[in-house]
Amino acid sequence: MAPRRIDPRSQTPVGSFLHDGQRVAFRAGESLALALLAAGRGSLSRSPKYHRPRGPLCLRGACEGCLVRVGDLPGQLACRVPAAEGLEVRSQNAFPNASLDLFRVTDWFFPKHLDHHHLLVNAGATLNRAMQVFARRMAGLGTLPSEEHPFPTPSTLSVDALVVGAGTAGMAVANALAREGFQVACCEEEPRPGGEALDRRDAPTLTDLCDKVRFLGSTSAVATFDDGTLCVGPEGLGLVRARARVFATGCVDSVGLFPQNDLPGVFTARAAARMLRAGVVPGERVVVAGSGALASEVAAGCAEAGVRVTHAEGVVEAHGTSAVKAATVTAHGRAEKVKCDALVVALTATPAYELAGQAGALVRWDASARCFIPEALADGSTRAPGVYVTGSVRAPGAALQARREDGSRVALQIASDLRGGRL
Ligand code: FES
Repeated sequence: MAPRRIDPRSQTPVGSFLHDGQRVAFRAGESLALALLAAGRGSLSRSPKYHRPRGPLCLRGACEGCLVRVGDLPGQLACRVPAAEGLEVRSQNAFPNASLDLFRVTDWFFPKHLDHHHLLVNAGATLNRAMQVFARRMAGLGTLPSEEHPFPTPSTLSVDALVVGAGTAGMAVANALAREGFQVACCEEEPRPGGEALDRRDAPTLTDLCDKVRFLGSTSAVATFDDGTLCVGPEGLGLVRARARVFATGCVDSVGLFPQNDLPGVFTARAAARMLRAGVVPGERVVVAGSGALASEVAAGCAEAGVRVTHAEGVVEAHGTSAVKAATVTAHGRAEKVKCDALVVALTATPAYELAGQAGALVRWDASARCFIPEALADGSTRAPGVYVTGSVRAPGAALQARREDGSRVALQIASDLRGGRL
């Protein structure tokens, strides 16, 4: 079995799109990946070299398991593209499609690794050239669009403060500064502000983003330098100049290292929580490995939907050929193989520190948390003037309330620095 809607009658479809020639219905607000999972289509792409099956793992644009061609554009993350009527979605670099890819034999022919750089190098120039052409056709991530797309004209925006990330802490900073009369922009990769709270059913009441904040939704901050931050979103390319740059970039989820951790059916706890919030269960026999609030919520949500749930402490290995069929997990000090069709892993996520580091914050290795963390004072200021961090990017695993308080504290310092002419 695969993911399915808990109650298919509870929400009526608002439209449909084509996936590899098959019509897939979607509900309001769903991404392509979520609609495809709910339709039981969990194998969306193939790894570039060995053509191993891949599926949505994080549902947050961080794993590349959901890469598809949408219309004429290759390499689109299906979890970041809103489902829309009439879209044509296709598998890429797979034959005939991602759920049945004959190129998968590459994985079986070369169980000990394929060195395509040196294969047939010493077999003569002709064979070598033929091999290079073959390798280029087999690998890669889709083919270029058939038509040239015009490069968007970049826009510019100047504000007092740019907040990157509209999760709990980012919203607290943006709202506080806007209410103090500062011009604030807030860019966020998701279409809506809210961050993790949107995926949690036991989250404290969601705060709205104040309407004085210029919200840049579905927008990624891709680089930051001097006082400028380059943002890419539905409006194209934009350079946001800000006296204060606040990185509330949160964390990146992972499922950790274990053999076959890339099989379709392996999900982060946050992805599973997001599916449940949308009325979709990850499978019929679900293993939830790890602990914490998200793990408990996922296990409870699955059990309420009549799904068989097995709790585990850790994962040794996932089993299956095209999707998860079982997992060897640890519980009470013993390893055990459990049949399942979904493996949900809850690990403490690791900080998305890259932009803060690029802006000049010192990034240090935290041995106890086992991750890199941008260094900042309690007020959020870093060694780089005008650069602040707040929320789980500097305190991974912090509770939502603690993140909100952190955002408010950091906003006070920024307001004081802006007013005092220090930025
Ligand atoms: S990047 Fe889309 S599911 Fe992870």
